[in-house]
Amino acid sequence: MNSFLLQINNLEVNFDTRAGTVQALRGVSLSIAPGETLAIVGESGSGKSVTAQAIMGLIDVPGRISGGDILWEGQPLTAAKVGARHILGKEVTMVFQNPMTSLNPLMTVGAQISEVIELHLGFSRQAARKRAVELLSLVGISGPERRLNQYPHELSGGMRQRVMIAMGIACEPKLLIADEPTTALDVTIQAQILELLAELRETIGLAIILITHDLGIVAGLCDRVAVMYAGQIVETGSVYDIFESPSHPYTQGLIRSTPQLDVKDERLVSISGTPPGLLDPPSGCAFLPRCPAGDGGCDKPQSLKAFGAGAVACCKAGIDAWKEAV
Ligand SMILES: Nc1ncnc2c1ncn2[C@@H]1O[C@H](COP(=O)(O)OP(=O)(O)OP(=O)(O)O)[C@@H](O)[C@H]1O
Ligand code: SF4
Ligand SMILES: [Mg+2]
Repeated sequence: MNSFLLQINNLEVNFDTRAGTVQALRGVSLSIAPGETLAIVGESGSGKSVTAQAIMGLIDVPGRISGGDILWEGQPLTAAKVGARHILGKEVTMVFQNPMTSLNPLMTVGAQISEVIELHLGFSRQAARKRAVELLSLVGISGPERRLNQYPHELSGGMRQRVMIAMGIACEPKLLIADEPTTALDVTIQAQILELLAELRETIGLAIILITHDLGIVAGLCDRVAVMYAGQIVETGSVYDIFESPSHPYTQGLIRSTPQLDVKDERLVSISGTPPGLLDPPSGCAFLPRCPAGDGGCDKPQSLKAFGAGAVACCKAGIDAWKEAV
């Protein structure tokens, strides 16, 4: 029996643009088990959102999945389109960075949540509304009956994100993908939303993929981390191993540039340079121009290989690349 909810194997996504083909995902493989929380981290443009869109069947022209496969409970998700429609939006749901663009400004909060419940669960209007009240309470919104009749613009940013999460969990999905769910929020509200996701993981056994460019928010919530760079996963491991002993020089650089809450007077070092363009990505290690440990041996393609309890795509995995460099 397959123990994973979701498995992605060697996924390739291209965007055909006027300037040429953007190779947004270049052989991405990852998996998530029931109830697990996986963080996908990496700089802007590394392919985090495209990975989520590919899972949700949202890659559209000019984009296309050009290789690999996505399996849901062992069955292909992209090939079986009819089955996929049943799974997506019900068993796998997604919460986006900006709830204002995902919520319909012309519909009340209650109507929007009820619509999802009626559509996917076949509830009557009255039963769906009752369930919507329960969901708003579950995501920590006080006075839920009153809130049902309000429009998105009448709510604060944090409350709108809670409504999005309520919609996301309305059909009791097995997997929630949250793409930068707190980036648009201030720090206090951000912490509350992350706490809510952690609670939901415990209470309804939800698996979560948390997409973020901020490593700082990963430690408290996630079990495992996948680090993306230039359309590829360069390291995966447990949160503990990634923070305590990162093996890929890019992961080491990310951690050195992230403030740690419990360390006083720490010296933060940002990674200089920028990622390569994806119109014509290098065939060897994409991090080579920025890597303090890179040399001629890094010119070859670097694939993800088991290393310790995780996996790393670096021929020098495990060296402290930044030791001599700073
Ligand atoms: N519709 C599109 N047309 C052309 N290129 C695209 C399109 N959508 C994404 N891309 C390209 O795919 C690559 C990955 O983009 P993606 O949005 O996944 O990055 P990201 O890691 O989510 O970044 P961010 O942290 O800024 O959200 C980028 O090079 C981006 O320019
Ligand atoms: S393969 Fe070479 S250039 Fe790439 S991360 Fe490893 S050491 Fe650095
Ligand atoms: Mg993104």
